[in-house]
Amino acid sequence: MATVSQHVPAPVSAERLVLRLFTPGDVDDRYAYQSLPEVARYLYRPPLTREGCAEAIAARADGTAWKDDGDVLLLAVCRANEPGVIGEVVLTLRSARAQQAEIGWIFNPRYAGQGYATEAARALASLAFGRLGVHRIFARLDVLNTASVRVCERLGMRREAHLLDNDLDGDRWGSEYIYATLAHEWTG
Ligand SMILES: CC(C)(COP(=O)(O)OP(=O)(O)OC[C@H]1O[C@@H](n2cnc3c(N)ncnc32)[C@H](O)[C@@H]1OP(=O)(O)O)[C@@H](O)C(=O)NCCC(=O)NCCS
Repeated sequence: MATVSQHVPAPVSAERLVLRLFTPGDVDDRYAYQSLPEVARYLYRPPLTREGCAEAIAARADGTAWKDDGDVLLLAVCRANEPGVIGEVVLTLRSARAQQAEIGWIFNPRYAGQGYATEAARALASLAFGRLGVHRIFARLDVLNTASVRVCERLGMRREAHLLDNDLDGDRWGSEYIYATLAHEWTG
């Protein structure tokens, strides 16, 4: 079994994008989308406060460990040669022993519909299967989150489960899909 890296290297370049660790100067850009109710709509939590955005960034100022269950790699997504953060992708180590990681994505709606989320998620998945030695990545998403379903399908992930009424979103029963891909299936 491959050994998962202790510390995550960054930045990561994609075709049109750069994925890098957040810095304290990114708080306003992150708050611009994390504060929006429509962005939080299917996240099973309220929009973030500015303080919440700043705290999450400060907590990662010294880099990200990638060793224990629950370790989180949160990367800001920027357009190459353009200032500002347009969104984020996140990889959570759910099982270090079995090398299972959960992937997610949240983007500013100003930059929707241009393939940026798919491109960033593809770059993060490649990092996961490459340098991080992950065996399987999976995503959990509300079945009503059709934009996110399409990201999974563009990445070639397999729909492995349809969980019925497995969570509460306010007073609405939420149902979720689980999509996944194995390292040996990943074509990049
Ligand atoms: C999920 C989310 C990131 C998807 O955003 P998105 O803009 O639909 O996804 P992409 O950036 O990959 O763009 C894909 C769209 O751009 C289009 N596109 C345009 N130019 C493109 C290009 N050069 N390359 C690829 N796609 C392109 C695609 O056809 C696609 O359109 P479609 O979905 O209508 O078919 C976004 O809706 C979001 O942040 N939601 C809130 C947070 C959230 O729910 N996260 C997921 C939690 S599980």
